[in-house]
Amino acid sequence: MSNPSIDAARLLDRINALGAIGRDAEGRLVRLAASDADKLGRDRFVSWLEDAGLEVAVDRIGNVFGIWRPDGAGDMRPLMLGSHIDTVINAGIYDGCYGVLSGLEVIQTLKDDGFTPLRPMVVAAFTNEEGVRYAPDMLGSLVYVGGLDVDAALATGGTDGTVLGDELQRIDYAGAHEPGFMTPYAYIELHIEQGPVLEREGIPVGAVQNLQGISWQKVTIDGDANHAGTTPISMRRDAGYAAARVVTFLRERAKASNTPTVATVGCMGFEPNAINVIPSRATFTIDLRDPDDDRLKEEEAALAAFLEKIAAEEQVDVSVERLARFEPVTFDHRIVELVEKAARDRGLACRRMTSGAGHDAQMIARIAPAAMIFVPSVGGISHNPKEHTADEDLVAGANILLDVVRQLATKDS
Ligand code: GLV
Ligand code: MN
Ligand code: MN
Repeated sequence: MSNPSIDAARLLDRINALGAIGRDAEGRLVRLAASDADKLGRDRFVSWLEDAGLEVAVDRIGNVFGIWRPDGAGDMRPLMLGSHIDTVINAGIYDGCYGVLSGLEVIQTLKDDGFTPLRPMVVAAFTNEEGVRYAPDMLGSLVYVGGLDVDAALATGGTDGTVLGDELQRIDYAGAHEPGFMTPYAYIELHIEQGPVLEREGIPVGAVQNLQGISWQKVTIDGDANHAGTTPISMRRDAGYAAARVVTFLRERAKASNTPTVATVGCMGFEPNAINVIPSRATFTIDLRDPDDDRLKEEEAALAAFLEKIAAEEQVDVSVERLARFEPVTFDHRIVELVEKAARDRGLACRRMTSGAGHDAQMIARIAPAAMIFVPSVGGISHNPKEHTADEDLVAGANILLDVVRQLATKDS
């Protein structure tokens, strides 16, 4: 068989078709994990797995797998490709979905082309990668690798008061397989970069060699509600003001540090949330990331010290809940080199890079050699409906995945 290429039209059609599923009344793409919208997306994905002649398997945490077991592959460990199809609120259509649908596309191309891999090939769509509805993020892949007990994960409460296990039952994606039922020989995740580097440098392919650490915390500050017009500033225990000081502290510290540290407060709520009442309670999330775990620990310690200072200065009570903590990950250098070689062989420029976003590959790397491939994101925009990658770049990335898979699928050790 000569060097095949994926079916570009089929891949692009599926990306656009999945992107049309799960639109809310305002037309926003919102396929939060285990929601009705997620079910519609999952059902469509499963129908494509069936069209491709793959065996469909779902595990207890709702991870969906399409498996190709070629004759003679027996119980060899499978080569796994994948990502996620849940989305953030008002999402773009590529985050996660591109990797899942490219995984399917690569397997379908090889299968239809008469390719004979030595081992089974699997495309995976992991549950709740985004972590918007249930924390932590990458929950499905974390459970899959044994990093979180499946029953504890199923009992996770959502931001909307739901319980993940109940929701998976309700949408009919609480499967029977124990998470981890297949240990991959290797795992590769193709993804849009979601940042500005590749586009800025005019490079179509990123060989992702590592991924930064992620720390998620939820902070609750309690003060006193009181009258906005009559309470002198000196007498206030203002939870809203204290929260605002934390936001400012994080931004100013990250800016002054001259390091890759990033800090984001993405959710905030006040109680009672009224124009003329001093907030009695502020609740907010903090997302801290750094590729260096020692530095991430320093940032966490600096935040903890600042929260103590705020508690004393503003006479408020502060409590912190840990939502997620993942160490930085270094990917398998042999796969990273295969990505570079595949790009070279197709005449495409490639650079090594660090992922700023969290990905399921970060979890699967605990049980199998893993790596990622990035393609450019226009304007570096993601988690936003303006997220875009040129068709040509999407197709090129999927062909690199195909070439790397062909190499790995015939390796016997
Ligand atoms: C996943 O999208 C993340 O938060 O990095
Ligand atoms: Mn993603
Ligand atoms: Mn995402």
